[in-house]
Amino acid sequence: MIQIENVSLVRGGAKILSDVSLHIPEKGLVAMVGPNGAGKSSLLSLIGRLQPLQSGRISVAGLPVDATPSRELAKILAILRQDPAPASRLKVRELVGFGRFPHSRGRLTAEDRAVVDAALADFALTALADRFVETLSGGQRQRALVAMALAQDTPVLLLDEPLNNLDMPNARDLMRRLRRVVDERGRTVLAVLHDLNHAAAYADRIVAMKDGGVAADGSPRDLLTPDMLESVFGHRMRVAEIDGAPVVLHHL
Ligand SMILES: Nc1ncnc2c1ncn2[C@@H]1O[C@H](COP(=O)(O)OP(=O)(O)OP(=O)(O)O)[C@@H](O)[C@H]1O
Ligand SMILES: [Mg+2]
Repeated sequence: MIQIENVSLVRGGAKILSDVSLHIPEKGLVAMVGPNGAGKSSLLSLIGRLQPLQSGRISVAGLPVDATPSRELAKILAILRQDPAPASRLKVRELVGFGRFPHSRGRLTAEDRAVVDAALADFALTALADRFVETLSGGQRQRALVAMALAQDTPVLLLDEPLNNLDMPNARDLMRRLRRVVDERGRTVLAVLHDLNHAAAYADRIVAMKDGGVAADGSPRDLLTPDMLESVFGHRMRVAEIDGAPVVLHHL
């Protein structure tokens, strides 16, 4: 579904990504982890064409991202940025409605409005629908941004730190919702996560990035070992097992 071949990126004279190749098949939840500055957001922004590809190839659903019209790409791929530009004078319902633009060209149909209403309800935003986005709390705003990305209803979702600002129940709810869109609707989700335990509990696969490259790639069970975590994060962590799944004790 997402094919990345020999992608490198240089910014300000520094090598940000070095010859990254990665294949993400259809239908699955892939967590991307790695230390600050590893290149996670840079790679996502190249897949989502938020910045131009300098070298290598990236295709999504067989379409080369650098040669596909934006409108067409927006029907295949939704991207949640790590630090979206603040939405000014926009109500929550309008923000979530933006997710429908690739489908409706700006004039929402009854079906679009139904999708928006469902997304608002799913993210407990119904009571906030007529509030201006800038008046929301950090976690409420994050929920609205994620709701917008999901309302786009694309086969591929790229989410850069979707759990930012979410409290524990909301983080768990979102991970469960992502799991459901994968299992019930066959979506392909690539999500950057800093919480290794959310990755362990919900992802099919973890891709660990370090220094602009893929340092490790595998199932949560294979990947989340003290040695692997130390080599990726430079910090030794303990790993326990609860109900057969790895749990990382990063604070001990
Ligand atoms: N426009 C730019 N000019 C110069 N360097 C940049 C630019 N954008 C990103 N970088 C550098 O590229 C590296 C990778 O950044 P990136 O945002 O991809 O990291 P990340 O893995 O997403 O980190 P984080 O977990 O902190 O979000 C960092 O060292 C960053 O400073
Ligand atoms: Mg980032």
